[in-house]
Amino acid sequence: MLDDLSIDPTVIYIFGASGDLAQRKIIPAIYDLFIKDLMPKPFFIIGLARTPLTDDDFRQQLRRGVGQFSQQSKVDDEIWNKFASNIKYIGTEYNDSNIYRSLFADIEQGWRATASRILYLATPPEMFATIVGQLGQSNVFRGKEKYRIVIEKPFGRDLKSAQKLNSALAKVFDESQIYRIDHYLGKETVQNILAFRFANAMWEPIWNRSFIDHVQITVSEQVGVGRRGGYYEHAGALRDMIQNHLLQLMCLVAMEPPTSFQADEIRNKKVDVLHAIRPISRDEVFKFAVRGQYGSGIVAGENVAAYREEPNVAEHSGTETFVAIKFYIDNWRWQGVPFYLRTGKGMEARVSEISLQFRPVPHHPFSKRVIEPNRLAIQIEPKEGIMLLTQAKEPGLVMKIKPVEMHYTYDEVFQYSSPGAYETLLLDVMRGDPGLFMRADQVEMAWSVLSSILEVWQDIPEVGFPNYAAGEWGPQEAERLIAQDGRSWLFPACLEFENKKGDGCDYN
Ligand code: BG6
Repeated sequence: MLDDLSIDPTVIYIFGASGDLAQRKIIPAIYDLFIKDLMPKPFFIIGLARTPLTDDDFRQQLRRGVGQFSQQSKVDDEIWNKFASNIKYIGTEYNDSNIYRSLFADIEQGWRATASRILYLATPPEMFATIVGQLGQSNVFRGKEKYRIVIEKPFGRDLKSAQKLNSALAKVFDESQIYRIDHYLGKETVQNILAFRFANAMWEPIWNRSFIDHVQITVSEQVGVGRRGGYYEHAGALRDMIQNHLLQLMCLVAMEPPTSFQADEIRNKKVDVLHAIRPISRDEVFKFAVRGQYGSGIVAGENVAAYREEPNVAEHSGTETFVAIKFYIDNWRWQGVPFYLRTGKGMEARVSEISLQFRPVPHHPFSKRVIEPNRLAIQIEPKEGIMLLTQAKEPGLVMKIKPVEMHYTYDEVFQYSSPGAYETLLLDVMRGDPGLFMRADQVEMAWSVLSSILEVWQDIPEVGFPNYAAGEWGPQEAERLIAQDGRSWLFPACLEFENKKGDGCDYN
């Protein structure tokens, strides 16, 4: 998020380089930055993984990923060759200390400036401790601002394991060198929440309990777990999505205005929200949280297998693929305003949306009909945009009130595509700006907020799975969670708006 785009020469070490993440996200994003001439000059990428590969095999594998997942419609041979000449591969076990000794020597000979070194941990999480331990033995990192470590989620699987990982990292790096990724924070519309809230004077006076009835955050995916069953079985939707992405969205909506855009100022304001979340006691878990798992069904017209039939998923798996939770934030701004969060896989549509439902008008003189309250929808997927639902008089000889949307989408307004989340985040790491990354205390607090739910769900397995068919909006219990407060889940504004336009919504 810094304005200055100049970056020191950089070496990026990707641990887990032969895996999915490098192929689908990291390298395509670096390639997109290279095409935009935003990569440091010079830069070098060293991929490390256990699979034995030659440099050329590795580059070929990456090129396929770039062809499929970068923002470029075509990979140009000449540009690719130039890019790929900056990449090499090392096949290694992660506990081989010889590798670590040689890794940091001499690449930058002949470079004009000292290089930044980015260590990107894209391995399965079980390997984090080994790699960090090995890095610690070389004792070259502490206090060196130009050495940074990037860690992918999952960052632990509960408070205790996250604390353990944080303290292992703290033995080797200063907190300012650690970049914990939550890729949602790199999304353009997610960053726009800050601009929307704090660069427009009109929202702040009404952004509170006096005007807002409740907030809903929906992140629904049509896809199932696909090939990620092995990972997902140990995670589930609570760990995979709520602990990080949805809680971060909630923090951005609920935080107090920052005094500056300094990384720690924003992060302090966000962590304040996590501290203010009313703890859910073990006794209250079933009242405040609902879990679900998809059975077979139909998504976008296609038959879809049940979660339990996906590869690497146990026949009687108790892992949740859907979560809905109600939170309260105990502070002056939000006292009494419920925040309803829900996320799931195998759902009816792919939507990420935050809706602020305003209170109804105190009195209206028009008719006895109930008028829909104003609603502000911040749309993150599939189309980035903002929608404000207002009421208007329908043209005619009688006073008839009708809901009208004021709406813009990014592609209509800005006419150029947003950078991918990983592009933004990688650029920030290379520039040394940690603002969009999770600090140790944020991660721990997010786990702490969910501790009672994690424990109770583990102690009392759900016997009614699967409890929603793929292609639905989740289980009936989720409807009850919100209905007990006299409310209902809002149909995503993006779908409603597109349906009204008559051309359907993006169902990819
Ligand atoms: C990841 C989760 O962090 O986010 C996935 O592990 C999920 O399970 C993904 O599918 C969703 O991200 P996006 O950017 O596709 O909305």
